Amino acid sequence: MKSLKSIKNWTLTKSLKNNNFSFKRNYVLKFVPSLLLTNAYKSISSWKNYKPTPLLKLDKLQKNLKLKNVFYKDESKRFHLKSFKALGGAYAVEKISKGKKNIIISSATAGNHGRSVAWGAKRLGLKCKIFVSQYVSDTRVKEIKKFGAEVIRVKGDYENSLNECKKLSKKNNWKIVQDVSTKDYKLVPQLTMAGYSIMIKEISKQTNQYITHIFLQAGVGGMAAGVVTGVAKYFKRIPKIIIVEPDRADCVLQSIKHNKLKKIKIKKESIMGGMSCNEMSYIPWQILKKTSNCCVSVSDRNIAKTVAMLKDKKLSKNSIIGGECSAPGIISLVGVCNNTKIKKIIELNENSNVLVIGCEGNADVKLYKQLLSKGRK
Ligand SMILES: Cc1ncc(COP(=O)(O)O)c(C=O)c1O
Repeated sequence: MKSLKSIKNWTLTKSLKNNNFSFKRNYVLKFVPSLLLTNAYKSISSWKNYKPTPLLKLDKLQKNLKLKNVFYKDESKRFHLKSFKALGGAYAVEKISKGKKNIIISSATAGNHGRSVAWGAKRLGLKCKIFVSQYVSDTRVKEIKKFGAEVIRVKGDYENSLNECKKLSKKNNWKIVQDVSTKDYKLVPQLTMAGYSIMIKEISKQTNQYITHIFLQAGVGGMAAGVVTGVAKYFKRIPKIIIVEPDRADCVLQSIKHNKLKKIKIKKESIMGGMSCNEMSYIPWQILKKTSNCCVSVSDRNIAKTVAMLKDKKLSKNSIIGGECSAPGIISLVGVCNNTKIKKIIELNENSNVLVIGCEGNADVKLYKQLLSKGRK
């Protein structure tokens, strides 16, 4: 098992300062209105088994990096879905179905969103069809089926599964619950982001320290933008927002760099499966292009090591179950601390209260076991 000393060599692949940064609460809440956030919290906090997820401290890491605090929001404890995604898709299903029992819900997914939608449909006794690409693991498919959904495998990538979902849903009058927004598809993604904002509502009650920096993992940017809406509504002070992506799928970084939505080519899928996306969602783009201070990307290299370090109490007193998408927040925080220039730009220092999001636990049990054993070598 690697000791904490080895993190001295961890690097970012890319970093980019956002020259168009201008965080305005009103601007953010124009895209996901404040009332939507209030309603999401009211509904979700009344669900059976609702409990705020723990806000832990990575005390050994914060000492090593000479920061005041490193908080870790542990979404592995989110209901029994083991991921923040439980807050999005399932909530959108509830809002879209409006109490009707005779509708069929559909969605395309890389894994966790589909689980959330399937779980949301099951909670309400609705039938559900989930479309997945050939790249979604059998373990993830099994997890979706556990909630009674029919899973339809589609040849090719995520985009193919989404197209097939749209085609069959139109033909059969199924209600699509998709977390990705376009210019013409906004309500469901807005509801999803409103659901994600609960993480910030909870944190605002879990600590009286002002958070100064948030590292936010991004795929299409839904989670990051959802958290930013929460910051705009619930936090008294606006922290610095750092967007984190796999270097093989840096569509947010590229969009911010060119100041327009950029579609990128993914040559090889990252191990950070949920974050391996080639294009941003429309509303997250509108939000993040103004509110992110900086974008960074990291390779797959230290994912397994970080998963093992979390589990083996190298970063904190507690043992933490963090999956492949939880690790990059920590890796990029370390990468920034090892990079004097970027560290200075975002004013990260001994007075900083950093928040990283532990987006998921062992949502894919098989992959988690593999990463853990690789990371311990
Ligand atoms: C498990 C998981 N899936 C997906 C994502 C990406 O979310 P989004 O596509 O909303 O940016 C993340 C985090 O960024 C994640 O942790």
